[in-house]
Amino acid sequence: MSKSEIGLIGLGTMGAMLSLNIAEKGFAISVFNRTSSRTSEFHAQAGVLADRITPCDSLEALVASIAEPRAIILMVPAGAPVDEQIAALRPLLGKDDLIIDAGNANFRDTETRAAKAEADGVPFLGIGVSGGEEGARHGPSIMGGGRKQAWDQVGHILTAISADYEGTSCTTWMGQGGSGHFVKAVHNGIEYADMQMIAEVYGIMRDGQGADAATCAETFKAWNAGPLKSYLVEISGEVSAATDADTGSAVLDIILDRAGQKGTGRWTVIEAQHLGAPIPVIEAAVAARNLSAMKTERERGEATFGAAPVALKSDALSVGELEQALIAGKIMCYAQGFHLLNAASTEFGWDLPMPEVARVWREGCIIRSTMLNDMAEALTAAPQDNLMFAPFFAKLVEDNMPALRKVVATAISHGLQVPALAAGLGYYDAMRTGRSTANMIQAQRDFFGAHSFERTDKDGAHHGPWGA
Ligand SMILES: NC(=O)c1ccc[n+]([C@@H]2O[C@H](COP(=O)([O-])OP(=O)(O)OC[C@H]3O[C@@H](n4cnc5c(N)ncnc54)[C@H](OP(=O)(O)O)[C@@H]3O)[C@@H](O)[C@H]2O)c1
Repeated sequence: MSKSEIGLIGLGTMGAMLSLNIAEKGFAISVFNRTSSRTSEFHAQAGVLADRITPCDSLEALVASIAEPRAIILMVPAGAPVDEQIAALRPLLGKDDLIIDAGNANFRDTETRAAKAEADGVPFLGIGVSGGEEGARHGPSIMGGGRKQAWDQVGHILTAISADYEGTSCTTWMGQGGSGHFVKAVHNGIEYADMQMIAEVYGIMRDGQGADAATCAETFKAWNAGPLKSYLVEISGEVSAATDADTGSAVLDIILDRAGQKGTGRWTVIEAQHLGAPIPVIEAAVAARNLSAMKTERERGEATFGAAPVALKSDALSVGELEQALIAGKIMCYAQGFHLLNAASTEFGWDLPMPEVARVWREGCIIRSTMLNDMAEALTAAPQDNLMFAPFFAKLVEDNMPALRKVVATAISHGLQVPALAAGLGYYDAMRTGRSTANMIQAQRDFFGAHSFERTDKDGAHHGPWGA
């Protein structure tokens, strides 16, 4: 029997879909799952693709069924399960056999695993896969990290299974070590922020303007035909339009307002703090999810202080202004996300291909949008520059920022919550303030801690006249 070109461990949501995708693109694949009934069930349901899939009921059988040098994808939960699988698999593999962690690993774990693999002289890749179940099945966005030689061993398969944007595959080798998983984490941080800003605008329409879900659906649908065209705006329209079969109400109206998270947004914020890279829009989005989880406390607050008077006058904000605010907020969010990637690239010596990052996000992944194509072009011209200064985006900022200011000011004065949009506005204002108020901070620091300060008129470190 001929051997498989690749193997995969973990036939959960993502692993099963990725295996079918690999088989559909013409590659023979061997699969293994911890619970073996799942393996046979998966194979039985693979239909015409079953011929290209070899179900294995042990790791030994899996290894024996793959052609050398082997490549095996792990699609198991991040953390200990990955280390356990690597520990179980490595003794069965040859020196040139490659293990690929395709789950949502913390990039620091990937750095550790890559360093260990390097020390042991064995190949290892950490790849970020975005697009959820649908993406995994029909074309995800893939962000690879690890040794280039290891990437080249499987690059043709990953390219074949990834999403396609006008003839270009949405898969790229980002750099060494944990770079692929870092880019994936930043993708997820941006995803949190994109979702939060949409939710904030939805809140203005629902609570400020009294729009029902169907009206919001129409608005999102209309926006998806313009500059905001994106997967997240599209699905916001779809979820707003959906009706609950049991009650006949809009599904959106019966969903509890408590959002979950798996931690990748939090990782992005933590790493941004480590790197001293400001990403206030993403930070606000992560904090908003945490606040959403505090339902009981929020209800207590409403009972104690009363709900904010959120209703707006009918002509207070137009749909066009809300759209413009979202455009401006989105640019601020991506400017911060790419700045963070630049900071990490410098700190870890990855040399991240910035335009490529924007390119692989154009299709397949959750944050895919028309605007990412313009970002790829802007980053090609100036890879390290802040996106808000690229001529195309500087013009968009100028055109749309007045609406963001009006929307934030109006929302805040009525108690409507817009933390991510406000953070975008704050970032813009900070970034166009040549003379900040940090002279006061420096004076205070010198006063209580003799930290010294720089002067505007003389070189060197100085102290104020307050020292006793
Ligand atoms: N779902 C998404 O939209 C999405 C998107 C991008 C990335 N990811 C990432 O992809 C990875 C897999 O996610 P998923 O949604 O496919 O998860 P899932 O549906 O929960 O499946 C997890 C799989 O891992 C196996 N597994 C769990 N613990 C294990 C262990 N200790 N040792 C060996 N195998 C173990 C399970 O086997 P059993 O059948 O034996 O339980 C199952 O096959 C995660 O890192 C996730 O964060 C998910």
